[in-house]
Amino acid sequence: MRTQVAIIGAGPAGLMLGRLLERAGIEAVIIERRSADYVLGRIRAGVLEQSTVELLARAGVDERLKTEGLVHDGIEISFDGDMHRIDFSGLIGRHVTVYGQTEVTRDLMEARTSSGASSIYEAEDVSIHDFDGARPRVRYRKDGVTHEIACDFIAGCDGFHGVTRASVPKKALQLFERVYHFGWLGVLVDKPPVAEELIYAHHERGFALCSMRSPSRSRYYVQVDADEKVAAWSDERFWDELRRRLNPEVAERLETGPSIEKSIAPLRSFVAEPVRFGRLFLAGDAAHIVPPTGAKGLNMAMHDVRLLADALIEHYGDKSDAGIDSYSAKVLARTWKTERFSWWMTSLLHVFPTTGAFGRRIQRAEFDYLKSSRAAATCLAENYTGLPD
Ligand code: FAD
Ligand code: DHB
Repeated sequence: MRTQVAIIGAGPAGLMLGRLLERAGIEAVIIERRSADYVLGRIRAGVLEQSTVELLARAGVDERLKTEGLVHDGIEISFDGDMHRIDFSGLIGRHVTVYGQTEVTRDLMEARTSSGASSIYEAEDVSIHDFDGARPRVRYRKDGVTHEIACDFIAGCDGFHGVTRASVPKKALQLFERVYHFGWLGVLVDKPPVAEELIYAHHERGFALCSMRSPSRSRYYVQVDADEKVAAWSDERFWDELRRRLNPEVAERLETGPSIEKSIAPLRSFVAEPVRFGRLFLAGDAAHIVPPTGAKGLNMAMHDVRLLADALIEHYGDKSDAGIDSYSAKVLARTWKTERFSWWMTSLLHVFPTTGAFGRRIQRAEFDYLKSSRAAATCLAENYTGLPD
C-alpha cells in the first residue's frame, strides 16, 4: 500500500491531523494499535482553549460542540477553603469551553468513518523505517498478516508510550523530564456539578478539582500518592476525601452518587527536542507531556497538528518546505511556555513531599498575590485560555 502521510495513533492528535489533511486533499492512513471502542473509553481531558474550538470548526466537526459545549468565563481557585474567582472574560475578553476529549474523539472518528478515509485499528507490532531517507515505510501486523505502507511522511501521534519517538536514535534526541510523586484519582458521576465553574483547590491534605462534562455529569479529582491503587478507594472514601479538601459550603452542596468511572493518572512534565527527524514528525503526547493541572495536554496536541497540517499543505500545494523546516522550533517555543504554566499551576496547588512550612507560606503568598494583583490574575487567565502561536 502507498499513501502520502502515515499517521501513527488515533488519539485526538492523529484523528485531527487526518481530518485536516483529508479536507486539503492529502491522502493519509491512520494506524492505531487499540480498538476504536478502547480509544473512546478513555476518560481524559475536559477543557478546550478557544483556538482548539476554532480548529474543530475549521475541521467541520463542531456541530455537537456548538450545542453541547459549555462556555466558561472563569475558574475558581480555593486555598484552604478561601475562594477567589479568576474572571477570564473581564480580564482579557477570553473564555474556555468544557467539552470532553471523548466527545472530540467521537466527532472526529464519525467524520472519518463517513468520509471513508482509511483507518487501521488493532494493528500489532507497528514499526517505522527509513524516515531519515526519501522513502519512509510503516510496517504492522493485523490478523496474523504483515503489511507495509510506503509514504512520503510519518506523523508520530502515538502518545507518550508510542513507537515513533522510541524509534529515533538516542543521540538525535534530548529529553527533559520531571516526574511528580503523586497522581490524580478521578471519578465520573451522573450528578450535576457542584458549581457552575471549575474549582481548583489547594488543601493541606492535597489538591482537589471539581470539573464537569455536562449539566448532569461531573468529573472530580483528588491528589493521591503515586503508588495508590484504585481498588483502595471506595466511592465513600473518595467523596469523604474530596469534601475535606473543599470550602465547607461547597462541600455541603456536593451531590454524590455511584462512580461510573474511576482511575488514577500519574503526573509528569516531559519534552523531547527536536520534534522533527527527516520525514518523521512528533505531535501531541508523543512529543511532550504536562501535568494535567493547567488543562493543556489536548490543547497542545491540537496546536501541534494544526502547524503540521499547514506545513504539509504548504509542501504539497505551494511546493515550499518552509513550514516543515520551522515545525520543530515553533512547536518547542510554545511547548516550553505551556510546560512552565502547567508546572506553575501544579506547584501552587499540590502538596509535595518537600513543601514543608516554608513552602506552604510561599504557596499562600502566591494565592494572595493572585487575589490582589490584576497583573498576576491576567497572567493566569492568558495562559489558561491559551497562548498565541
Ligand atoms: P493520545 O490521546 O495518547 O493518543 C495516542 C494514540 O496512539 C492512542 O490511541 C494509542 O493507543 C495509540 N498508540 C500508542 N502506541 C501506538 C503504537 N505503537 N502503534 C499505534 N498506535 C499507538 N488535556 C487538556 O488539554 N485538558 C484537560 O483538561 C486534560 N485533562 C486530562 C486529565 C487526565 C486525567 C489525563 C490523563 C490527561 C488530561 N489531559 C488534558 C491530557 C490529554 O488527555 C492528552 O494530552 C491527549 O490525549 C493527547 O492526545 P494525543 O493524541 O497526542 O495522544
Ligand atoms: C479536567 C481535567 C483537567 O486536567 C483540568 O485541568 C480541568 C478539567 C477534566 O477532566 O474535566
